[in-house]
Amino acid sequence: MAFKHLQIFLIVSLVSSICFSITLSRPLEDELTMQKRHDEWMTKHGRVYRDTNEENNRYVVFKRNVERIERLNNLPAGRTFKLAVNQFADLTNDEFRSMYTGYKGDSLLSSQRQTKTTPFRYQNVSSSALPISFDWRKKGAVTPIKNQGSCGCCWAFSAVAAIEGATQIKKGKLISLSEQELVDCDTNDFGCGGGLMDTAFEHIIATGGLTTESNYPYKGEDATCNSKKTNPKAASITGYEDVPVNDENALMKAVVHQPVSVGIEGGGFDFQFYSSGVFTGECTTSLDHGVTAVGYGESMNKSKYWIIKNSWGTKWGESGYMRIQKDVKDKQGLCGLAMKASYPIV
Ligand SMILES: *[C@@H]1O[C@H](CO)[C@@H](O)[C@H](O)[C@H]1NC(C)=O
Ligand SMILES: *[C@@H]1O[C@H](CO)[C@@H](O)[C@H](O)[C@H]1NC(C)=O
Repeated sequence: MAFKHLQIFLIVSLVSSICFSITLSRPLEDELTMQKRHDEWMTKHGRVYRDTNEENNRYVVFKRNVERIERLNNLPAGRTFKLAVNQFADLTNDEFRSMYTGYKGDSLLSSQRQTKTTPFRYQNVSSSALPISFDWRKKGAVTPIKNQGSCGCCWAFSAVAAIEGATQIKKGKLISLSEQELVDCDTNDFGCGGGLMDTAFEHIIATGGLTTESNYPYKGEDATCNSKKTNPKAASITGYEDVPVNDENALMKAVVHQPVSVGIEGGGFDFQFYSSGVFTGECTTSLDHGVTAVGYGESMNKSKYWIIKNSWGTKWGESGYMRIQKDVKDKQGLCGLAMKASYPIV
């Protein structure tokens, strides 16, 4: 009898210890799954770390980001956009902001601005005549998505995209132009250290234009200006104009005429991991990034959006683009996109 009891006791304790060990190992299992995800992510994005110490630190950041992305994507209220574990998933938001944006505040502008702006020429365009949706990509005025890499020269990509568009509209030819020429040669701005689209326009007016992307290719780092490569010029501008501040309707009038450079607050977590849908995420109006508005539209359920061309490669957002909520209550526009918009005159 005693022996049997002992047997039962053993079986019970064995079963309970199995159950116990399963509950215990659940977090362990999650941890292993997450580590596997990190490994796969590293392979997918070609990420190599210096040593295991760095890998471990990056893993902690990766895990925190993945968990937050999944929590936000699963919010029961449902959001109008989705986030994804993209190429920025092993960067803290502070690191991301300092590496991938690069828009300088207005202090730069007031000290550098000559008097090249002319008044907003689209003021008298009738609002009621504006189409419900408009997309410069469909009209062949937008070059393929580019990638600034970890160089804070968004301002160069934004200015260049606006000039590429204006040139195509005026001359009928879409030519990819050089950002690196601006990074290296535009002394109004600070290369990978940041800059402004308007001061880039000033520089381009002063030097007579920009050469092509292929003639002065993008390196993604500061280098000395190679004056031999800056010729021949492939596009030039005669001036630029600012869109009236805090007026999404004025921005719309401009965007139907040409792609427009806009300042935006693009350094937030939602922006970092945006993947699809109409962005209505968290952001401020402390402009830190430059992008280009290339159109606007209305989704199935009538939510209005701008189409923004970014310079973070095609893996970010909707193949490199973002749809972001348009006509918000705040006059400054979502993420401040109506605060500092301007366009070049070809
Ligand atoms: C638009 O529709 C989507 C999908 O049904 C929904 O998730 C989203 O909340 C809607 N957006 C607005 C602004 O109503
Ligand atoms: C807009 O219309 C007003 C009144 O006709 C005119 O004075 C002004 O010059 C026009 N502005 C532009 C930019 O054409």
